[in-house]
Amino acid sequence: MVRKSKLDRDRDLAESERRFRLLVEGVVDYAIYMLDPVGIITNWNAGAKRIKGYQAREVVGKHFGMFYLPEDREAGLPQRALEIAREKGKFDAEGWRIRKDGTKFLASVVIDPIYEKRKLIGFAKITRDITERASASNALDASESNFQLLVNGVTDYALYMLDPNGIVTNWNAGGQRIKGYTPEEIIGQHFSRFYSDADQTAGRPARALRLAVENGRYEEDGWRVRKDGTFFWASVIIDPIRDEAGKLLGFAKITRDLTERRETQLKLEKIQRQLAESQKLDALGQLTGGVAHDFNNLLMVITGGIHTLKKLAGDDRNGVRAVQSIEAATHRGAALTRQLLTFARRQSVNPQTIDLAHRIHSIRDVMDMGVGSAVQLIIDVDHNIWPVTVDPAEFETALVNLVINARDAMPGGGSVTIQASNVRIDDEEHQGDHVAIKVRDTGVGIPPDVLAKVFDPFFTTKGVGKGTGLGLSQVHGFAHQAGGTVTVDSRLGEGTTFTICLPRMGQSETKTAEHDVKSALGSGTVLLVEDNPDVAFASTGLLEQLGYSVRWVADAHSALQEIERDGIDVVFSDIVMPGKMDGLGLARAIKQLRPALPILLATGYSEALLKAGSDFSILRKPFQLHELSRALADLPR
Ligand SMILES: Nc1ncnc2c1ncn2[C@@H]1O[C@H](COP(=O)(O)OP(=O)(O)OP(=O)(O)O)[C@@H](O)[C@H]1O
Ligand SMILES: [Mg+2]
Repeated sequence: MVRKSKLDRDRDLAESERRFRLLVEGVVDYAIYMLDPVGIITNWNAGAKRIKGYQAREVVGKHFGMFYLPEDREAGLPQRALEIAREKGKFDAEGWRIRKDGTKFLASVVIDPIYEKRKLIGFAKITRDITERASASNALDASESNFQLLVNGVTDYALYMLDPNGIVTNWNAGGQRIKGYTPEEIIGQHFSRFYSDADQTAGRPARALRLAVENGRYEEDGWRVRKDGTFFWASVIIDPIRDEAGKLLGFAKITRDLTERRETQLKLEKIQRQLAESQKLDALGQLTGGVAHDFNNLLMVITGGIHTLKKLAGDDRNGVRAVQSIEAATHRGAALTRQLLTFARRQSVNPQTIDLAHRIHSIRDVMDMGVGSAVQLIIDVDHNIWPVTVDPAEFETALVNLVINARDAMPGGGSVTIQASNVRIDDEEHQGDHVAIKVRDTGVGIPPDVLAKVFDPFFTTKGVGKGTGLGLSQVHGFAHQAGGTVTVDSRLGEGTTFTICLPRMGQSETKTAEHDVKSALGSGTVLLVEDNPDVAFASTGLLEQLGYSVRWVADAHSALQEIERDGIDVVFSDIVMPGKMDGLGLARAIKQLRPALPILLATGYSEALLKAGSDFSILRKPFQLHELSRALADLPR
């Protein structure tokens, strides 16, 4: 090994010192300089120049206190820094200093005492300009506290965190508003308390956290519980929070209260359903109305023929029996078309103000017989029930239809209750005083998928020949034509309740419309106005049987000409006719020309009927002989 001479070693040392000096002098990010034991600056590097703005010659030989703010200098901070460095072996602090140009900067300062042979020879001072870093971290602080304010201030969302086990670790104003807990009450509690008992038992809270961990997110809408025990419809998002290493720190949970939105949504859906329902029923109504109208005319022809056939049959037993069965079938057909027309709301109605208690009791026997002995019929009508204005025959038919349905739903027996009470309704369509007539059974109930269809014409679950599916269509048509509603409520296995709501009528006297049947034979000439020749033929037959002579014309124009010719005692006209003038127009014209001439109108279907009001007597098609007789006899003369 080569031993270096002392000269060489000295040279090496000098070289290393020179390099070190260059290093220190060249550092620009730190001000590195020395102080003597009382604080006089003895050297100065590039960093010091850059940070503080002074050249070496401007500061070397001066006290380092010159870099302090005047107030700090007066307070003796520079001296204290040196004292601390000497006592503790190091002084370490951050503080504001002044540059040469008078601007301030935030300095991070370290002062180390330097000893040589245990004697203090001065201090090494290292200063960094940390203004930028400080302002960046201030900005971070500020943005963090802004964020905190933001989260705390949000009231529309509950924003809070859970630890990995589901314990609530913080809480915002939205959480308080939506769920009702203050932060003190809820922080430290498990979040499962926001779930219903059933959900807790089913383990849904734990499942939500598990799915959030597995899928990186969990999202759900469902019922949650507030502090006061009430429920709200919540939209929930749970995000797992992890550190850089991927370790689970907890969960961020965002909950919104969508109860109102959900209610609005449901209401909207309900309105849309109702609208679709009423459009469907309207369309069906148009169709059935048209069919029933044509069918009525056919029945008229058959009815008209029956009386002729009866005469022809004479004493022939087979002939009489055949005619009787035709007659029975015609009645059944007439009853069916009436149901259809009521559903289509094209029935000619004969509204009267009725006393419900009286009406219901008057058909009690019929209903009792209808339900049979296995079913108990209970009638419960409030004694001060309000009067309603309805077609009495339609009302009775509707009630019987409901009671028969109830019976059919209770093959093993049970009870059906007819209850009538006064109610106030307050929804958009129907408002004010109503009478509610409920028909409640203890039967099998109606499955949900069937429930929506029960009012449809021809919908039936009964076997072929057992039901036509028109019963409830009639009930529906009747209720709506009377300005009311019908609703159904059913529970499988428990029973069904149909409720007809009818508007209350003004407290006018209830008039009873029952007349004695006048069956005197008619006389005189009837002008028959009817566009359908077959119907005209049938009607002529009936009129002649009643003792009238008949003149037939096919339209209003001819009718007026016929009246001009005189010799007419009664006009009997169909309402619906082709041509410029319908039966109603004709009746009005006649009233002008011959106010004393009695007029009877007939229709099975007419909206014009409503316009006619009570100006004219109207006969409902198809009619029986005795009905025609009575209508003609009843005409004001
Ligand atoms: N009280 C009730 N309980 C259970 N189901 C009922 C009840 N009322 C009606 N329904 C169901 O509604 C359907 C339609 O009733 P609707 O009265 O319109 O016709 P229907 O009784 O079948 O025949 P019909 O024309 O002879 O009355 C029935 O077939 C039955 O399925
Ligand atoms: Mg029925």
